[in-house]
Amino acid sequence: MTVRLDLNGLLGTAGAEGFTAEELAGLEPELARVRDVLATRRTGGELGYAELPHRRDEVREVLDVAAGLRADFDTLVVLGIGGSALGARALVSAIGDESVGLRVVVADSIDPERFGALLGRLDVGRTLFDVVSKSGETAETMAQFLIVRDRLLRELGAVDYKRHLIVTTDAKDGALRQIVNDEGFRALPIPAGVGGRFSVLTPVGLFPAAAAGIDVEELLAGAAHMDERGKTAASAGSDPALALAGALWLLATRHAKPIVVLMAYCERLTTTADWFCQLWAESLGKATDLAGRTVEWGQTPVRAVGAADQHSQLQLWLEGPRDKVVVFVRVEDHGAAIDLPATYQDLESVAYLGGHSLGELLNAEQRATELALAKRGRPSATLVLPTLNAFTLGQLLYLFETATVATGALAGVDPFGQPGVEEAKRLAYGLMGRPGFEARREEVESWLARKDARFVL
Ligand code: PA5
Repeated sequence: MTVRLDLNGLLGTAGAEGFTAEELAGLEPELARVRDVLATRRTGGELGYAELPHRRDEVREVLDVAAGLRADFDTLVVLGIGGSALGARALVSAIGDESVGLRVVVADSIDPERFGALLGRLDVGRTLFDVVSKSGETAETMAQFLIVRDRLLRELGAVDYKRHLIVTTDAKDGALRQIVNDEGFRALPIPAGVGGRFSVLTPVGLFPAAAAGIDVEELLAGAAHMDERGKTAASAGSDPALALAGALWLLATRHAKPIVVLMAYCERLTTTADWFCQLWAESLGKATDLAGRTVEWGQTPVRAVGAADQHSQLQLWLEGPRDKVVVFVRVEDHGAAIDLPATYQDLESVAYLGGHSLGELLNAEQRATELALAKRGRPSATLVLPTLNAFTLGQLLYLFETATVATGALAGVDPFGQPGVEEAKRLAYGLMGRPGFEARREEVESWLARKDARFVL
């Protein structure tokens, strides 16, 4: 049940303009350096995400809280945004199982109509809300929390409402932690040193996953398996995470491929592709390098889903600008076997489908797209999952996380901060009247006042 990375579609020999096998081999010293850097950082406790597959404490706590939820609740609503939402959504929609767990809804929306409609549909008496925020002060999440807490209080009363809230936040700091301490809500900790987009294997992702009936031990075992493969790989370049990082970095920096498309031929992995896009974009899109020089580095991730996007974006990838590399995610065995009936035998253009299965068709579409790209000299790589389950998904997530951190090391940027996003958060605080952010408000107002009416059409 091992996830494999097939790099053939990147090599010139496969007809792609990607690179030659020699160029890939030439990357080995650089990858070996990165491997050493990551090992040293890990030993120094700087790569919190990397240890998550091996931490047992939070898992036990998650399983304890998740056990028996079905007796009291039908639905879990996760309130969070960005890294505090996408991991949970990826897990739940890929392998959640409502027949054994709760219905889990990840509400990362503050669109009034959307959020209002969600609340309107819920039977709050049978709903548990998981408020997720590492910082404990993100405006969107805190706004959701205020609305939900108010409604619970009104409908369920001052004693009962607390049973319907659980808070997942930093173990010590932040406004939410203070609220937990003051009001006594149940809480799950986000370990120190693990930021939002790397938190899928903390209670941020694990609790909704466990609530959705996912075997979180198996998920972590998958991640640990990928970690082990990296540790025991004979060379840096044979660690799939480092190899993917090296290939994408090479393409971005030396082969003018500023865009990476992640195309999943499995609809249950659509949200995993969304999760990857945030991870890749927010971690690697940085103005300065580690030495403080302006680099404005990054590779733009695009999410795509097969086969639907073959009939939407593929034309552009095949014939438009040569600025992309496509990473396919292929699932060999889709589980559900839906056979195509052998009817219309006298119509050749339809009859050939008979006797095959839908999964076969989907995988044939993936192969066809891979070769169509190669024939046009457009590079691709393929991640192959034997099947989609907790073990293979755990491998995939861990591979992407390590590939992201390794690419940061290759590009010389810090994958863990998000200074640009923080700026937008501060401006929004100013606009919403948060004390201490008055100057930001003035900045926005004077910028708005400078808008030229002639260009507002
Ligand atoms: O990946 C990240 O760090 C961000 O996307 C955060 O997860 C997001 O901004 C939400 O932050 P918080 O968890 O502090 O509410």
